[in-house]
Amino acid sequence: MKKTLLLTAVLAIATMAFAQTPVYLDNSKPINDRVEDALSRMTLQEKINMVHAQSKFSSPGVPRLGIPEVWCTDGPHGIRTEVLWDEWEQAGWTNDSITAFPALTCLAATWDPEMSLLYGKSIGEEARFRNKTVLLGPGVNIYRTPLNGRNFEYMGEDPYLSSRMVVPYIQGVQSNGVATCVKHYALNNNELNRNNTNPILDERTLREIYLPAFKAAIQEAGSWTIMCAYNLYGGKWLSENDYLLNQVLKKEWGFDGVVISDWGAVHNTEGTVTGGLDLEYGSWTNGLTTGASNAYANYFLADPYKKLIQEGKVGTDELNDKCRRILRLIFRTGMNPNRPFGSINSEAHISAARTIGDNGIVLLKNDAPAKKAPKLLPIDLNKTKKILVVGENAIKMMTVGGGSSSLKAQHEVLPLDGIKARIGNAAEVVYQRGYVGDASGEYNGVVTGQDLSDTRTAQQLIADAVNEAKTADLVIFIGGLNKSNHQDAEGADREQLALPYNQDAVISALAAANKNLAVVIISGNAVEMPWVKSVPAIVQDWYLGSEAGNSLADVLLGDVNPSGKLPFTYYATLDQVGAHVEGEYPGHENPNIFMEAFGRKIPVYDMPYNEGLFVGYRYIDKNKLQPTFPFGHGLSYTTFTYGKASIDKKEVTADGKVTVTIPVTNSGSREGKEVVQVYVQDVQSALVRPQKELKAFKKVTLKPGETKNVSFTLDKSALSYYDDTKKQWVAEPGTFNVLVGASSKDIKSTVSFELK
Ligand code: BGC
Repeated sequence: MKKTLLLTAVLAIATMAFAQTPVYLDNSKPINDRVEDALSRMTLQEKINMVHAQSKFSSPGVPRLGIPEVWCTDGPHGIRTEVLWDEWEQAGWTNDSITAFPALTCLAATWDPEMSLLYGKSIGEEARFRNKTVLLGPGVNIYRTPLNGRNFEYMGEDPYLSSRMVVPYIQGVQSNGVATCVKHYALNNNELNRNNTNPILDERTLREIYLPAFKAAIQEAGSWTIMCAYNLYGGKWLSENDYLLNQVLKKEWGFDGVVISDWGAVHNTEGTVTGGLDLEYGSWTNGLTTGASNAYANYFLADPYKKLIQEGKVGTDELNDKCRRILRLIFRTGMNPNRPFGSINSEAHISAARTIGDNGIVLLKNDAPAKKAPKLLPIDLNKTKKILVVGENAIKMMTVGGGSSSLKAQHEVLPLDGIKARIGNAAEVVYQRGYVGDASGEYNGVVTGQDLSDTRTAQQLIADAVNEAKTADLVIFIGGLNKSNHQDAEGADREQLALPYNQDAVISALAAANKNLAVVIISGNAVEMPWVKSVPAIVQDWYLGSEAGNSLADVLLGDVNPSGKLPFTYYATLDQVGAHVEGEYPGHENPNIFMEAFGRKIPVYDMPYNEGLFVGYRYIDKNKLQPTFPFGHGLSYTTFTYGKASIDKKEVTADGKVTVTIPVTNSGSREGKEVVQVYVQDVQSALVRPQKELKAFKKVTLKPGETKNVSFTLDKSALSYYDDTKKQWVAEPGTFNVLVGASSKDIKSTVSFELK
């Protein structure tokens, strides 16, 4: 007996001494070897478990092998509050409030990749601290119509601008060992019927307008995951779209990460197995995001998938591929021993939120309210003793609401509070409501706690504001849209371009009562401005998160010189929008394709994008229209003078490069930043091309009187269009003009060269 025991002990010690770390746990081994090793140890059931959710936001790893779960979080403006295991409702934790960063429209409006890196690094740290594997963002769907309720979560209308801005965000997040999930791939350009819209567009438009930002996110930034959209393309749901997922994303672009479904975007098992999706989230048993009860084993990629395999109807190649990708994700994130710990609500994050806001606010207009008077902004406290602030958005919390990007921020500085805090005793600041918009403030159980109810009639609200305006030295109206349904919010589109809640009447009445009126629009979308001529100063503010009021005060008071530029066209009416004039919106019923839900057939809407390439300023240029403010527009408290652009050569070959240089001078009296924009024009081409397209930009800081020579190098990619007959990018020989300017409508200098 004693002998046996001794032998067992000796054997155990020997085994321990010779036991090697399994390859999948050995960080020194190449990641693909670790993936293969882990995969070889997994059972069929473990593999099936890995490819679908186990809760609202998580999916299992392999507990038996010590491989951790995947935890996702929205995204993209801050880390979402913890929700209940099976529900959207918040779990009621008290330690999950975070820093709310500015909305992505603001980030795009900075036109500054450094801001994007700061954003990504900061939000990534918060995600890491909250122990998340995947941040569900950033969003890069193109701003096709100003009615899209979710434009505030995206980066504007231009494929080049959004490509340049998305890459550093992803690099910043992923430097924390947290994956980004770039979304919503692809063509989710409206919220109306988002589950059942089938955009119809040619391959060239797809490649030139709607895919570049996704491609940059995958190929340049290396996003470890991507989210497929709800809608269809080519009559096939994105969750099973062989063309976009397998052919383009995985084969052509070489994506080695995970395709995650949007929540409830999966519709069936067989198509999804082969269609390129890797990980199913958010399905109820009927495939929709709402239902009475759900059972994760009933997910399309759960028991039904296993059954197909066991019956021999599908093989295991696809399953292995999905698991390989998910394992790779886990090794890059949760099992990366070198990832930092992260932090939350740090001073650095709060300051990052404020800086990004400071750099993204756009000064749309700044005139003198009277002859010989100085420009209205920045506010001169030596001459301003009474300031009237009017408008619901001055006092409304905006971090709560809007859909999945809704946040539980640890603090939110409201615009009125930011202005008051900055002004202190230097002037009297009074407030009037002006209009009542949406007094509610709740999302999935997170409440603002604000009581914004007001029982005055619309006329009374205006009369009270006008009365106060008569004795004020300056009136600041702070309105715009909000995060309520049919405004800037997920799940529905806006119903009009005009401002809601009677705001036009309030603004016009204020303009008549006091010529010193500044209008601040808080929104993620363009709005109609019928009063534009009677208001001397207009500021485009965004949803700025935790530091909203401080950033706005920074700009209004001139502590910060505004430097944001519009990432989308500020249309005067919907008649200036290609999607509404030439394209279809919201589309028409397709007679053959249906969506099955709630036991009935729901129609699918074909939505022809007949405007083709002519989105945003491309449509404005083509039709010589005058929007209220053009793409790329934004003023400063100083002035910039552009000299003549020069070019280093007059002729280039297709693999060559040209460098264009332009001197830009700060001709005003204070330091400022200017975004110098370069548009390329192909003078003659075999296929129709937009009149000009943004192909480079730089944000430069200039002291008063200082001149900098700003240079841009253009290569073949800046000259090419996608030829869908050849299925490749083509740079056609001939003359190209390079237009350098301060906005898409303010071209300062043009140079030309020949492509040989
Ligand atoms: C949204 C996604 C979001 C997901 C999870 C979906 O409804 O479209 O953007 O990440 O929900 O909240």
